Amino acid sequence: MKAIAFINQKGGVGKSTTTLHTASYLVKKGYKVLTIDLDPQGNLSKAFGINTDGVPTLKEVLLGEVPVNQAIYSSADFGYVIPSDIELGQAEKTISGNFGAEGLLALALEPIIEQVPLDYILIDCPPAFNIFTYNALLVATDVVIPCKAEQWSLDGAEQFFAIQELVKKRFKRNINVAGIVVNQFQSNITTQKMFYDILKQTAEKRNVPFIAQPIRLSTDVNTAIGMCKSVFD
Ligand SMILES: Nc1ncnc2c1ncn2[C@@H]1O[C@H](COP(=O)(O)OP(=O)(O)OP(=O)(O)O)[C@@H](O)[C@H]1O
Ligand SMILES: [Mg+2]
Repeated sequence: MKAIAFINQKGGVGKSTTTLHTASYLVKKGYKVLTIDLDPQGNLSKAFGINTDGVPTLKEVLLGEVPVNQAIYSSADFGYVIPSDIELGQAEKTISGNFGAEGLLALALEPIIEQVPLDYILIDCPPAFNIFTYNALLVATDVVIPCKAEQWSLDGAEQFFAIQELVKKRFKRNINVAGIVVNQFQSNITTQKMFYDILKQTAEKRNVPFIAQPIRLSTDVNTAIGMCKSVFD
């Protein structure tokens, strides 16, 4: 089983969109997929069509209030999901105050990983290196770094490599970078082509895969998300 986290500290680079489309694609291929929304914005949960009002979410799981299986929902297009909403953000201080707070998700997932033959866990992270992203890092076997072709996405990617080193030193965990992927690409803009090349060189320098095919900017993405669908549908 692979657990892939989508990480970039820079906001709006396509973490949630890439997570959603990866889930949709893998489910269509027949894989058993569990997606975890680690972002209190809850964008992904809403896009998956999950209404979190009054039901257990990731917050209750991390606080140890419900077992993980009570916060897993099923969606025909996207597979299984543990959703989040704004309440996760409100509980951040309490969650962070727990002993071993960065390991809470890994601990909570243990029974599911043992009982359910999942092929993939996908984790949508918030735009910050905070307790939620740290929890993702202690579950992830792999990381995808979505970037826009711009400086601040590049900075976000570089910050990830620093964190990857810390995880290695402090937790003895080797997280594989599955790839840097350029999103919302506009090939007719010169600076975007320049940053595409810089991101490619960064990947080469770090010896990590660079996904050569960029994802182009397309209004279809927002149309699909508004309909709780992926662009494939
Ligand atoms: N290829 C694309 N073409 C057009 N719009 C896109 C594309 N990818 C993402 N978007 C849109 O760009 C916005 C940001 O994308 P998304 O929410 O996936 O980024 P994010 O990195 O998860 O953001 P955050 O850091 O806030 O969680 C969204 O409105 C999304 O619908
Ligand atoms: Mg997001």
